[in-house]
Amino acid sequence: MSHVQDLSELAQEARAALQGLTAEEAVEAFRVRYLGRKGLVTQRLKELGALPEEKRREAGRLLNVLKQELEEAIRKRQGDFRQGRAERPVSMDLTLPGILPARGRLHPLTQTIRRLEGIFISLGFEVVSGPEIETEYYNFEALNIPLDHPSREAFDTFYLDEKYLLRSQTSTVQIRVMESRKPPLAIVAPGRVFRPDATDATHSFMFHQVEGLLVGERITFADLKGTLELFCRRLFGPRLKFRFRPSFFPFTEPSAEVDISCFSCRQKGCRVCSGTGWLEILGAGMVDPNVFEAVGYDPEGVQGFAFGVGVERLAMLLYGVEDIRLFFENDLRFLRQF
Ligand code: FA5
Ligand code: MG
Repeated sequence: MSHVQDLSELAQEARAALQGLTAEEAVEAFRVRYLGRKGLVTQRLKELGALPEEKRREAGRLLNVLKQELEEAIRKRQGDFRQGRAERPVSMDLTLPGILPARGRLHPLTQTIRRLEGIFISLGFEVVSGPEIETEYYNFEALNIPLDHPSREAFDTFYLDEKYLLRSQTSTVQIRVMESRKPPLAIVAPGRVFRPDATDATHSFMFHQVEGLLVGERITFADLKGTLELFCRRLFGPRLKFRFRPSFFPFTEPSAEVDISCFSCRQKGCRVCSGTGWLEILGAGMVDPNVFEAVGYDPEGVQGFAFGVGVERLAMLLYGVEDIRLFFENDLRFLRQF
């Protein structure tokens, strides 16, 4: 192959490569490949001296022409890109849709608490809150649970030290509200509670309750039953079955618990309902006169009812969730469904 032919091939290849330079970095790579210290053109120029006289002249001329042509093209391309950069804001298409920020969502338990609040607000209740760290007085004594009484075990909790503990029920808020207000009053108090319960499909050591308390004159068990019935119907619609079951709480007399028919097995019996066909969602009753005395109310002058709803249990029923642990694992595949 003659030198001239070789050089014209090099020139052809370089011109073709020039067409494909669509990014600024590619222009620089192109410059290095042909005109860099070890570039293809530079190399040929260095080799000129080794050529015989008559070939050297012609090859030198061709190489210099090619070098100038490439330098010129590179300058032009670089200029284009720089100008393009400067012009970009002007050529921006303002009609293109923007980049949407990723939207979060409320945790299913928060959604459930808000639904509950909504129902009770519509009935004239006010939403309040109380501390998660409490004293024995608010978690037990003021609620008519004496130190040595076996019922204390049902509300056992985690102690932080001699004096403080994590509340095991939102009923503590009943006491705090009544201490600071005069009747009549109607409040709901959502919040977190803690118990050293063994974890299973329906029990957690940390869960949420919504406490309710209504105090006034001539309040009866019928008011309690009517309120809770309306609450269940609003939440679950007319078809779901629920039942009142006599129960015991030291701070209410008489007391009841409310169960909802198990969604998971249609009452055939499964691990969600421990084979009973029912899932307990709340405890309730008429405020015990001893509690009124503890907060300085006249037990002869006022009556009231109270209830404590398990939020996780309601959320399980509402959304068909078969294991309480799913709410706390922060698995986005689960949470994105709500
Ligand atoms: C109470 O905690 C009472 N303070 C309720 C009350 C309030 C009665 C006012 C009378 C007047 P109980 O321990 O049954 O009661 O809990 C109430 C609800 O919390 C239960 O019905 C259940 O839905 C839920 N719950 C109880 N323990 C757990 C647990 N370990 N995990 C998840 N939910 C639970
Ligand atoms: Mg119970």
